[in-house]
Amino acid sequence: MNRIHYGGDYNPEQWPRPVWEEDSRLLDMAGMDLVTLGVFDWALLQRPDESYDFAVLDDVIAQVAADGRRICLATATGAVPPWLARRYPGVLRVDFEGRRHRYGQRHHHCPSSPDFARLSVELARRIAHRYGDHPAVIAWHAGNEYGGACYCELCELAFQDWLRQRYGTLERLNDAWYTRFWSHEFTDWAEIVVPSALSEHWNGPRHTAFQGITLDYRRFLSDALLANFTAERDAIRAAGATQPVTTNLMGLYEPLDYARWALEMDFVSWDNYPPDHLSQARMALTHDLMRGLKGGAPFWVMEQTPSMTACREVNPVKRPGTLGLWSHQSVAHGADTVAFFQLRQSRGACEKYHGAVIGHAGREDTRVFRECAALGAEMKLLGDVVGARTHARVALLMDWQSWWALEISDGPSRHFSYRDQLIEWYTPWWERGVAVDVVPVTADWEHCDLVLAPGLHMVSAALAERFETYVGAGGTMVSGVLSGLVDDDDLAHPMVGPGVLAPVMGIRIDETDALAPTEHRCVDFGPDMTGSSTEPGGGPCVEGRIVVDVIQPKGARTVAVFVEDFYAGCPAVTRHRFGAGEGWYVGTVLNEAGLAHLVELISHELGIAVREPDGVERAERCTNDARFVFWLNHAGMPRTVSVEAGVDLLTGREYADGDSLDLDVAGVAVLRS
Ligand code: GLA
Ligand code: ZN
Repeated sequence: MNRIHYGGDYNPEQWPRPVWEEDSRLLDMAGMDLVTLGVFDWALLQRPDESYDFAVLDDVIAQVAADGRRICLATATGAVPPWLARRYPGVLRVDFEGRRHRYGQRHHHCPSSPDFARLSVELARRIAHRYGDHPAVIAWHAGNEYGGACYCELCELAFQDWLRQRYGTLERLNDAWYTRFWSHEFTDWAEIVVPSALSEHWNGPRHTAFQGITLDYRRFLSDALLANFTAERDAIRAAGATQPVTTNLMGLYEPLDYARWALEMDFVSWDNYPPDHLSQARMALTHDLMRGLKGGAPFWVMEQTPSMTACREVNPVKRPGTLGLWSHQSVAHGADTVAFFQLRQSRGACEKYHGAVIGHAGREDTRVFRECAALGAEMKLLGDVVGARTHARVALLMDWQSWWALEISDGPSRHFSYRDQLIEWYTPWWERGVAVDVVPVTADWEHCDLVLAPGLHMVSAALAERFETYVGAGGTMVSGVLSGLVDDDDLAHPMVGPGVLAPVMGIRIDETDALAPTEHRCVDFGPDMTGSSTEPGGGPCVEGRIVVDVIQPKGARTVAVFVEDFYAGCPAVTRHRFGAGEGWYVGTVLNEAGLAHLVELISHELGIAVREPDGVERAERCTNDARFVFWLNHAGMPRTVSVEAGVDLLTGREYADGDSLDLDVAGVAVLRS
C-alpha cells in the first residue's frame, strides 16, 4: 500500500543506547516510518588510519529496520573529519578574500580537491556496498546541502580546464568576456585567475569588473559541486545499489543551477526553512519549482523544523497548527515524503536549541510532539495521493543564468531582486488558487497556455525563437523589465530593448530609468482595466518601482500608462498580438496591487478560473482516477469555502457540489473526487 513517508534526520550515534529504545517507542507514536541516517558520520565511519568501522551504523540500521522503519541512507560526507583535513590540507577551502580556511564547521570541502573526491567516493562506495541490498534502505542521500564556494589554486586550475572545455580557444573566450575592455586580453590559459576580492571584485561577490569571468566562475562552481554529487552517485551505482539517489536542495538557492542538478538526480528533495511566518506563497512557489525541476515528478521535503530553527538572530517557534498546515501544503504541491530535521534534539553544539520531534526532555506531552503525532496520523490517510500530478495552465519560468547575470550587473539598479520578482509575480496567482508550474526555462513549458517570464535577462537568439514559435502558435507570454537584453555570454544584444524579445512584445525601449528604493511612479490601468481603451486614465493608481522602461509601442497596445515624470503618458504595460498569441510586457516593477490587476486581466482573457483571495490556498493533484483538492487556511482566522463534491480524506466527511466547508485557523481539508 502506498503511503506518504514521514520521518526525518535521526542521529542516535549522539546518545546512549537506552535512549534508542525510547526513541523507537516515540517515533511509533508519531506515526513515523522513515529515518535519514548518517549525514554527518564520516568521522565515525573512517578512523585516522583510514580504516573503516561500521559497527555503530550497523547497530543503528539494525534497530530502525527492526522497528519497521524505512531508511534514507546518507553517504556521510556532509563534513570531513579533523584527521582528514590535517593529512590532506588541500580539502579545505580558500575563501573569497583568499584566506585558506583551517578545520571547522561543515560543508567545507574544496570541490576540486582530488583527495576529497577519492575519499568521499570510496566512503560512498563502501556504504552502498555494505547496505545496498538491505531491504529497509529505500533511498540514498549524497552529501548534504551542497553549496558555497572555493577560490583555491586547485579550483583555479580546474576552472581553466572548464574554460578550455567551454570555449576551446582563447580567442573565443576573449570575445565572450569582452576583454578588449580594460586591456584584459588573455594570451595563455594560465593567465586566468579566479575572480575574487583579490582580482576582479571591488565590493563583494556581486560587484565585478568583468561579468563574463564571474558568471563563468559561478557556472564552474555549480558544475564542480555537481561533479562531487555525481561522483558519489556513480559510486553508489558501481557498488550495485539500485535505490534512487538524491541530495537535499535548498529551494531558491542562488549559487547552484538546480536546473542542471536535477538532470543528475533520481528524484528531487529539498529543505524547507522559510525565512518567516509570512512566506506561504514563497513556500508554494518553491515546492512548485522542486516539482518543475523534474518534469512534474513528486519530490521529498527532506527537512523542515517541527518548531524553531537555531541559526538566526531570532528563532520563533512555529505557531500552533502551522506544522500541519505547511506540511500539507508541501503535499498539495507535489511532495510524497515529509521529513523533519530532526527527530531527537542534539544536546550540544550549535543546533542544541533547534526544534526536534523529541526534545531534550524526551517528553510526549509537549505541543510539538502532539502536533507531529497528529500529522503522522493524517499522513497515513493520504496514501492515495502518492504519485499524483499537478496540471497547470500557467508556467513561471526560472533561470539561474539570468539570476546570476542580473545580480552581478552594474546598472541599471542594484535593487532589482530576481528572487523577489519571481515571488511577486507568482503570489497573485497563488492567492487566486491557480496552479502554476515553476520550471527551468530550458524545460518543456510549451504545453501551458500562459508563460510568465519576469527578469529573464539572458535570452539567446535560439530561445527567442522558441518564444516566437510558442506565441505565434497561440501561447501567451508575459515578460518584464530587464528581459531579453543579453546573450548566453552576457553580451548585450546589439539592439534596443527588450532585445530579442522585441518582435513578440511589439515595443521599443531606448531608455530605462532607475528609481531610489523609496521612490515610485504612479501607473494607471484605465477605468475598465481591459487595455481596450487607447487612452487609459482615471483608473486606480498602482505603483511602479525600481526601474522604469520608457516604452514606444511598435504594434503593441497600451494597457497601463505612467502618469508622472517625463514619461507621463508612456506605456507601463503593453500587449501585442503576435501570430495567434500575445506578448505582454510590464515596463516596471509593479507593486502588489499592480500585479493583482494584471492577473485579473490576463486570467479573464484566457478563461482561467480564479478565486477571490481570502487567505485560503487551493491546490490540486490528480491521478488517472482521482482528483485531490487541498484547502489550506493561511488566513489566521476561521474561514468557510465553497467546495466541489468530494470526501475529505482527513475526516471522512462527504461534501456535495457547492457545499460550505469550514476551516479552523490553520485548518486543512483534502477532498477526493
Ligand atoms: C540544514 C542541514 C541540517 C541542519 C538544519 C538546521 O538544513 O541540512 O543538517 O543543520 O539545516 O536547520
Ligand atoms: Zn578549491
